[in-house]
Amino acid sequence: MFYEPGKTPHGLKKDPFKSCVVPRPIGWISTLNKDGSANLAPYSQFAHLTFSPPYVMFAANVKDSGERKDNVENAERTQEFCWSLATYDLREEMNKSATEVPYGVDEFELAGLEKGYGSLVKCPFVKASPINFECVHHTTLRLPGDGVGASVDVVIGRVVGIHIDEGVLTNGEIDISKTVPIARCGGPNYAAIRDVCMFKMVTPKGPVTPAPENAARKEETIGMTNGEQKKPDEGR
Ligand SMILES: Cc1cc2nc3c(=O)[nH]c(=O)nc-3n(C[C@H](O)[C@H](O)[C@H](O)COP(=O)(O)O)c2cc1C
Repeated sequence: MFYEPGKTPHGLKKDPFKSCVVPRPIGWISTLNKDGSANLAPYSQFAHLTFSPPYVMFAANVKDSGERKDNVENAERTQEFCWSLATYDLREEMNKSATEVPYGVDEFELAGLEKGYGSLVKCPFVKASPINFECVHHTTLRLPGDGVGASVDVVIGRVVGIHIDEGVLTNGEIDISKTVPIARCGGPNYAAIRDVCMFKMVTPKGPVTPAPENAARKEETIGMTNGEQKKPDEGR
């Protein structure tokens, strides 16, 4: 089958698009509301963008009222947000935190979650989650959409602090069989990522000589990262 989104029908009962790119990791994003209360919600339109320095993004569709989602509003105003790893153990709490409640309602309380705090940003993260990022807002892009709720705000943040519970490490590596991250697979379908289907594959290295302009750009990057530069394909 072939269809042109928005132009020709797909002919299926449900729009298949969200089930094409799966599993989607969950951006469990928290921010501070204007009155200092906390806000928390999951976003599966979420991605790690790069690593040196690390950036992440989440994409929030505008509310039916046409307003921006609360985390977008707050991330821009306070210039910060946190990300927490959504795990299988925390799946019910993650789901409750998605409830569309009026601005100012604390979804940590709604979901029965304790707040944890870092040292670089003021907003809390999910204390029970084994991995949490403190992020500073970098930019927000508005992508136009067709109809109510279709426009989306893509929020990009730089990860300035990373908290990892050492209990989820095995031989110095994050052990996915201990964190058991969950990911969205379209509609109400989720995947829990355990070790049973994991496999290792090393990316081949080509005989690439950097062009002079790329070499210059690499120098700038090294300056920004205190020498913690990695090779382009290392560990992705
Ligand atoms: C697993 C999951 C993933 C979600 N992903 C998104 C998403 O990527 N973008 C979005 O706009 N809403 C998404 N939602 C819905 C939001 O979580 C929901 O609208 C929430 O109330 C937004 O909260 P906020 O306005 O406090 O930011 C998702 C919900 C669930 C349960």
